[in-house]
Amino acid sequence: MQRGSDLARAIAVLESGGLVAFPTETVYGLGADAASDAAVGRIFAAKGRPRAHPLIVHLAADAPLDDWAAEVPEAARRLARAVWPGPLTIILRRGPRVAAAVTGGADTVGIRVPAHPVAQALLRGFGSGIAAPSANRFGAVSPTTADHVATDLGAAVDYLLDGGACEVGVESTIVDLSRGRAVLLRPGGLPRERIEPLTGPLEAPDLAAPAAPGMLASHYAPRAEVIAVAPGEVPAMVAAALATGARVAVLAPGSAFTAWPALAVRAYRLPDDIAGMAHELYAALRDLDATGVDVVVAALPPTAGLGEAVGDRLQRAAGPRRNLS
Ligand code: TXA
Ligand code: MG
Repeated sequence: MQRGSDLARAIAVLESGGLVAFPTETVYGLGADAASDAAVGRIFAAKGRPRAHPLIVHLAADAPLDDWAAEVPEAARRLARAVWPGPLTIILRRGPRVAAAVTGGADTVGIRVPAHPVAQALLRGFGSGIAAPSANRFGAVSPTTADHVATDLGAAVDYLLDGGACEVGVESTIVDLSRGRAVLLRPGGLPRERIEPLTGPLEAPDLAAPAAPGMLASHYAPRAEVIAVAPGEVPAMVAAALATGARVAVLAPGSAFTAWPALAVRAYRLPDDIAGMAHELYAALRDLDATGVDVVVAALPPTAGLGEAVGDRLQRAAGPRRNLS
């Protein structure tokens, strides 16, 4: 794997059907030419990801949306104008340029215009769409630094564009507008409060027929067991975990620890503001894994703003592992 900040090199790799890992404002993506079935096929192989899990197509800010999506409803154009470039993915009918492998043959496609200047420069220079999932091994926590990508995927990446740490730190919000309704498939970097004024209230997904196949219950899981609870329940959970002989750590906003003077376990202090928590969350989970703890007791934040996404990821990290392959 080559690594650096050589944009021309990254564009040449994409043009030859290779894989480029690149920074976005949410997390790092593992990108390939979204118009090429062969190039996109390499993404699934590199990640160990099932081919039925569709990928997001990333576009430059001035790219023609109608090449990549069909029957774009007015609500989607309103949202796109208001929040792109930014951490929102919109599910639309698949357009003519999207390679079939991107969507696993499905007739819808996720589209996002990322805000990171390196991602935008790459997309403008490449002049086409880039299909990209998060640049982690399937089932692992998303990478928010170039080092995370190198650790997870290393040799499988042809070029790693290093753009420093991702500012937002959790993946994009995904809203499905392909079926005449507005459905929140994944809370993420764009809070619900920014979307609903433009779409009306967001509906919950139909759990009987999951529309985002990648949203497995435990899709964001570190190695350690995560127990996500309200802050008031943290001391009791720590005591219960210690009683099993486990090595325990607590993950919570720094100010919360003043209420727990007697916790004799490793403390991972997140920033007290929710944007800071989101920014550091995945690096914290990776750091805690590296220390070899068995159990992480995490304090759930209030659900307003980015808190919905942070709480969702903590709960997924705490979810059952049976779906992981
Ligand atoms: O912030 C992000 O969204 C990052 C950066 C790299 O853009 N990407 C990302 O991709 O998180 P990934 O593949 O790790 O997660 C995309 C999610 C998956 O759960 C997938 O199932 C869902 O989006 N998805 C993609 N296309 C879809 C479609 N046509 N219909 C329903 N869900 C879709
Ligand atoms: Mg992912």
